[in-house]
Amino acid sequence: MKSIPLNSEDKSLINHYIEHPSSVDFAKPKDALCGIILEEEWFTACLQELVDNKIKVFELKWHQAKKNYLLQTGLEDYSKAKRIVASHRNAKGKTLNIAIWGAGNVGSALIDLILSNPKEWLSNHGVHFNIFAVTNSSRILLDKTGLEADWSKHLSQGLEHISSKNLLIAYSKHYELENLVFIDTTANATVASYYSELALAGFDIVAANKIANTNTQKSYDDFRKIIQREKKSFKYETNVGAALPVIQTLKQIIASGDKVTRIRGTFSGSVNHILSSIRNGTADFGAAVRDARTKGFTEPDPREDLSGKDVARKLLVLARTIGYKLDLDDIRIKALIGEDLSTLDLESFLVEVDVLDDKFKNLFLEVQDGYHYVFAADIRLGENGIEGLEVGLQKIHGDSVLAQLSGTDTGFEVYTKAYGAKPICISGAGAGIELTARGILSDIFTLD
Ligand SMILES: NC(=O)c1ccc[n+]([C@@H]2O[C@H](COP(=O)([O-])OP(=O)(O)OC[C@H]3O[C@@H](n4cnc5c(N)ncnc54)[C@H](OP(=O)(O)O)[C@@H]3O)[C@@H](O)[C@H]2O)c1
Repeated sequence: MKSIPLNSEDKSLINHYIEHPSSVDFAKPKDALCGIILEEEWFTACLQELVDNKIKVFELKWHQAKKNYLLQTGLEDYSKAKRIVASHRNAKGKTLNIAIWGAGNVGSALIDLILSNPKEWLSNHGVHFNIFAVTNSSRILLDKTGLEADWSKHLSQGLEHISSKNLLIAYSKHYELENLVFIDTTANATVASYYSELALAGFDIVAANKIANTNTQKSYDDFRKIIQREKKSFKYETNVGAALPVIQTLKQIIASGDKVTRIRGTFSGSVNHILSSIRNGTADFGAAVRDARTKGFTEPDPREDLSGKDVARKLLVLARTIGYKLDLDDIRIKALIGEDLSTLDLESFLVEVDVLDDKFKNLFLEVQDGYHYVFAADIRLGENGIEGLEVGLQKIHGDSVLAQLSGTDTGFEVYTKAYGAKPICISGAGAGIELTARGILSDIFTLD
């Protein structure tokens, strides 16, 4: 680590902020114009980055003999602008200043992935990462010079988690950090409620957390308006199917002028695992549920998975991605377990769940002629909007990719007008810590 988690300048800034939360104004006086030279060969890319960072440009003059531009900015933007220009002049790549909220499984894997290969990120993507903030639910670590491999030790000694969103904004402003990216690897609603303010403060947002996309339609619309108005990016590929390219495929279909007519998928790796155990005759329902839980495939309480609610949330994310307005309550969910089992305490549930063994055994015996039962999410779209929207068991022909998945894999069929009766199919591991971290990294590299 180049510095202790908080150096003395950071500490006095933070103490000041905590003592006077509403009175902090880090802006410097705007009493002069400052000139910066921009060479012709990297002028366009550099100017774009200056504009993306809301650097105020008061004047731009072309010098024919020197083949360069003189850009005049205000004193308040001068240091940030100078740093951006210097990184272009020295071909150091674009510095992304990253804040990661939620150093749990995925967040930690992402930090380690980013720190593992700086040369590759620079040579293949032209990006230099500076992770300047990281949190868990109780601590925050801030270091404007960037985290290094021993970051987790320093996080455990970091500052207690006080109004950390405001602190993050104040810190990034005070140190005039450019190209800000906020990454949400929590599953927390309060963190999701920060996004609008962060976008206003200049952050692009990348979220593994689904909450902003599954809130009410009104709060979803309000947030999207802010992102659009502020010309910021919001990426969320890992909300559905971890690193599988589901969201980007849907966006490409729309960008090509085609129309999605149906999305059908099995989005829950844990439920797929349970159902394939029954289908293969390796376990009855109750035993399969306990086995999936022991292996860590389900949530600690497997009823979270069996209720179908998380699958419905993912369906909502996909439906909104292709432009439909709806709320979670609009989705009809036929859970795999009934009300009676839902209200038991966890220990009793894990015993009582065996009452469903015969029901599932008989159900699976019933299916013949190459059909299978899968736990599917399904949205059907017609000329007049949504024609069907449900989550539950579906009898699906064995030819479908959804009937061929094994273990915890997930699958998606996307039907469109142009592709007709043959869907675009995407399948593979729909969860996993390393894969999800890679999905987030890909979102960062493709920020608009
Ligand atoms: N795991 C996967 O395969 C996968 C796949 C796709 C998407 N996702 C999504 O990725 C997200 C993270 O999953 P995970 O498996 O990494 O979960 P996790 O291990 O439980 O990590 C969550 C992290 O968020 C932190 N946190 C909670 N509330 C916070 C707050 N208010 N402020 C700051 N930090 C807070 C937790 O802190 P503590 O450590 O102090 O509790 C923890 O470090 C979830 O939204 C999940 O749905 C996961």
